[in-house]
Amino acid sequence: MSEILVIDIGTTKIALALARIVGGRLEIGFIRSYPSAGLKKGKIVDMEAMISSIKRALQDIQSNMGLKVRKAYVCASGSDTRGMYSDAAIKVKKREITEQDVDLAIEAATAMKIPSDVQAVHILPVEFIVDGVNGIKDPVGMKALRLEAKVYIITASSSHIQNLVTCCNKAGIDVEEIVLQNIASSEAILTEHDREVGTLVVDIGGGSTDIAIFYDGYLRHIATYGIGGNHITNDLAIGLKIPFKEAERIKTQFGVAIPDISFGSLKFNGNQHEIEIVGLDKQTIKIPFNVIKEIVYARCEEILEIIKKEVDLISEDISISSAVFTGGTALMQGFVSLAEGFLSMPVRVGKPDAGIIAMANELGLNENPAGYEELEEIYNPQFSSTIGTIIYAIRTGTLNESSTGIEKVFDKIATWFERKIKKIT
Ligand SMILES: Nc1ncnc2c1ncn2[C@@H]1O[C@H](COP(=O)(O)OP(=O)(O)OP(=O)(O)O)[C@@H](O)[C@H]1O
Ligand SMILES: [Mg+2]
Repeated sequence: MSEILVIDIGTTKIALALARIVGGRLEIGFIRSYPSAGLKKGKIVDMEAMISSIKRALQDIQSNMGLKVRKAYVCASGSDTRGMYSDAAIKVKKREITEQDVDLAIEAATAMKIPSDVQAVHILPVEFIVDGVNGIKDPVGMKALRLEAKVYIITASSSHIQNLVTCCNKAGIDVEEIVLQNIASSEAILTEHDREVGTLVVDIGGGSTDIAIFYDGYLRHIATYGIGGNHITNDLAIGLKIPFKEAERIKTQFGVAIPDISFGSLKFNGNQHEIEIVGLDKQTIKIPFNVIKEIVYARCEEILEIIKKEVDLISEDISISSAVFTGGTALMQGFVSLAEGFLSMPVRVGKPDAGIIAMANELGLNENPAGYEELEEIYNPQFSSTIGTIIYAIRTGTLNESSTGIEKVFDKIATWFERKIKKIT
């Protein structure tokens, strides 16, 4: 049996998820979100506030599930995130390549000089080249003279990563691994086919936009920007002179990303062309729908321009067939259509059920992955990075009973899990 706790630290929410593999089945036993504090535009601005919000979330899991957690996989946005290729070769001397050789080759490829203000967060094998033949995904067992490994190294600001770890430590958690949001969300929403044919992944949360581009089966590009849904809310708050909370309500209820959408075509809330809003002085005011639409559109356009510029940087031998948008801002009405126009490619909203099913099929877990439908979070793009971190932990094979540090209190919650298991089988 293996179990895992994920702490997904976002700008607007901290999400906790608890999963385990038992008898070849993946069970997500707990997933819940809590208010987050201390992050702005994906960067840590108040460590004490962040520590308190992590502690509050952990207390909840402790009182609700009777779990005392000591270790967790922590998902967060990186700061100054960059990816770079590196390669190195080792001699194999005409015998079969072993797993140890593969490790050595990857290690050699990783031994590169990294600027002191950043640190490597992920090292992903891209391909192996065996005696000059490239494009090999698994060289173990092949007879060869020379094994070359090509890796993609993802770096992020060291101080940002270290501050994240410090906040978790001070909240009483040892960090098993930091998983960048770009990587985690991709795990949750992409199929193997998406990775092969070329797909752009964009997670737009409250404070950050995390981009990843896959082609030919591998991650090819990564970038993070400190812009997200909070900017849209702020624009509404400032533009309409209303409290942030009211602006958030207006955005999620009436915000549309397409400028030429008519009010009558909206599915919600009747046909008024003016919307009632509570201002800073607590007085109700009426604002024309067009004003809201223009404010929202301007910021969505800016976010999409940033994404487009990043896509334009990609070398010509990487082709992108479609884009998948996830994170809470992907829920904005009309955002997908606007993105399709901007990027000139098909766009869909990515939800984490896709990744769970893909992984379950790939690893032979769960005879009936569709049994997850009880957990509504797996259909919610806001939880892509949370669930993606579970998938990442399973895929990278680092999950094991002793490593997670969760005290053995699963028996206490067996009944609760059994309900989920029944659904899964
Ligand atoms: N229906 C909706 N329409 C528009 N925006 C929405 C909707 N639902 C949620 N959002 C926005 O999604 C954002 C939160 O998304 P998410 O939970 O993915 O962010 P986060 O993980 O906390 O932040 P980040 O990953 O950027 O640090 C908020 O700005 C929220 O207003
Ligand atoms: Mg997020």
